[in-house]
Amino acid sequence: MTDAPRATPDAPGASPTPAPTAAGGTPATDPFTHGRALLAASPDAALLQTRWDRWGHDLIAGLAPVYDVDAILPRVIDVILAAHDARTTQLRQRDLERTYQPDWYQQPSMIGYAMYTDRFAGTLAGVREHLDYLSDLGVTYLHLMPLLRPRTGPNDGGYAVADYREVNPSLGTMADLESLADDLHARGVSLTLDLVLNHVADQHEWAERARRGDAKYRNYFYCFPDRTQPDLYERTLPEIFPDFAPGSFTFDETLGEWVWTTFNSWQWDLNWGNPDVFVEFADIILYLANKGADCLRLDAIAFIWKRVGTDCQGQPEVHAITQALRAIAHIAAPALILKAEAIVAPQLLVPYLGQGEHAGKLSEIAYHNSLMVQIWSALASRDARLMAQALGRFPTVPTTSAWGTYARCHDDIGWAIDDADAAAVGFNGFLHRRFLADFYRGDHPGSFSRGEHFQVNEETGDRRTSGTAASMTGIEVALASGDEGQLQLALERLRCVYAMVYGFGGIPLLYMGDELALTNDYGFVDDPEHADDNRWLHRPRMPWALADAREDTSTVHGATFASIRHLGRVRATLPQLHAAPQTQVLVPQDPGIVLFVRRHAARLYVGLFNVTDSWRTFGGGFLRDLGLGDGAARAREHLSGQHVALLDEMHIPPYTAWWLTS
Ligand code: GLC
Repeated sequence: MTDAPRATPDAPGASPTPAPTAAGGTPATDPFTHGRALLAASPDAALLQTRWDRWGHDLIAGLAPVYDVDAILPRVIDVILAAHDARTTQLRQRDLERTYQPDWYQQPSMIGYAMYTDRFAGTLAGVREHLDYLSDLGVTYLHLMPLLRPRTGPNDGGYAVADYREVNPSLGTMADLESLADDLHARGVSLTLDLVLNHVADQHEWAERARRGDAKYRNYFYCFPDRTQPDLYERTLPEIFPDFAPGSFTFDETLGEWVWTTFNSWQWDLNWGNPDVFVEFADIILYLANKGADCLRLDAIAFIWKRVGTDCQGQPEVHAITQALRAIAHIAAPALILKAEAIVAPQLLVPYLGQGEHAGKLSEIAYHNSLMVQIWSALASRDARLMAQALGRFPTVPTTSAWGTYARCHDDIGWAIDDADAAAVGFNGFLHRRFLADFYRGDHPGSFSRGEHFQVNEETGDRRTSGTAASMTGIEVALASGDEGQLQLALERLRCVYAMVYGFGGIPLLYMGDELALTNDYGFVDDPEHADDNRWLHRPRMPWALADAREDTSTVHGATFASIRHLGRVRATLPQLHAAPQTQVLVPQDPGIVLFVRRHAARLYVGLFNVTDSWRTFGGGFLRDLGLGDGAARAREHLSGQHVALLDEMHIPPYTAWWLTS
């Protein structure tokens, strides 16, 4: 599938309001006017039409390159009308509040936390019992990993959804989810859910029907009678799971055809060129919004459009479709925002936040994969020049967006180091990627880390890494050796990582367990459903006995909890960490010291981090020249609450993390 039907210039015959006449005298029942008129059917017509005036053009511009606008628009408006009708009074109030505070997700008070419901507390009801824990940590944005009903058998941690309108029965019910959302909202916490929209489980009703020979549903997927097309695509398709799911197509015996399966053989890619798929998802999005979701994480969004001769990621249609979906959400449920999960190279990442014609019209949030990779790279090489180089080349992002900054997530770390960036600082890209994979596995001399290779690709030499933040920062090794000095250094290293994540600007996304310095969970191999996927190494279960003893800061767990909680508390007081301004990343002198500079109207902010385990010397004149420091050349350091003298020669201890303002 390379191209979908285009919009035709003719609009459907009868529109509820008289068609306006264009200047040239030809009748112009333009889609905008038509859509606006259709919204008149709502008892809330004035409100919906006001939103239409704001977002309707975005919707149409998003639909036009992909679908027949005249045909799809009435269907989309029906979805909007029904969803708005079903929206509760409470959620409508939320819509109103966010209309007044459209930058709610950019606030420095945003602290994210990602967790698997079952691993955190068994069930959704269990999560409700542990909300005090999250509030203690300052969490204001909770991402519950996939919780909709998955396929039976292996399900990729829930990313193989069999029913979007039902909660995984082992976690609870839709009513439990709504109650949890209410509780979270009452505490000022927003709820993020996954929207898996590239594929469904092979057990989803659409797939079942396709298998039973229903042509309508067969057209929801990419099905091929033989290998001709698949072979053509495979020439340029990368391998996602070369170890356990090689290739991107699976032969389905019942269907007697090859089905596109980018990820696992039981995750069937959806055909987004089919307008029915678009309308289904518009409806699912608003359904989840009406259950209380504040943000939907667009899982694997890069993959939803396929084009021969490309890697089938980030095609222009992906952005057009996202723009249309977002406009629908803003019209029917403006409290909802979108987060793009696009783990791609920097230059390819920014388009998901909206560039050019899409500026400010796509996902509000995107994962800052590059920052994550660069933090680990800097720690391993004791050198932040590559970080400054890679992040310094970042294209401008819309001021309405927010990076999701993170040290770890539930996935592996792909060593996305660009060859040109590496060369610019005198590294060899291939060797540096290999060095990082080996270093974080613990294979390299001088490594402090313990982890495992994920999906070694013999052909490309690519290897990714699994491991928890605590194991990767040396806590596991230090605990095993019993060396107290090493342990203190490792704790400082973990704190420094999170000080960068919290002090960059955007929404820090804390991954469950990092706040307690949980080390690798080698027991994952005992579960046959997880054994072949070592990402479970860093998806531990919550040890509540340790969590409940967190006030004891003499333990590794308590000390880490206290320092991460502190980062959140301080962050919330710094307007400079509002997501709107962009961060400039500089390594002006010593390669071991990196600066995050944020020029905010309120006041200049400079994050200063020593990414090495040794003392470093830094010339404070550089900081003064940036505009930092009062009359006495002193800056305020917010994490310690002390003043720092910006001397010509400053001696900076290992893993220092300073958040400085004038
Ligand atoms: C995303 C998820 C990952 C999953 C994949 C397929 O990348 O983060 O865990 O395997 O999508 O759904």
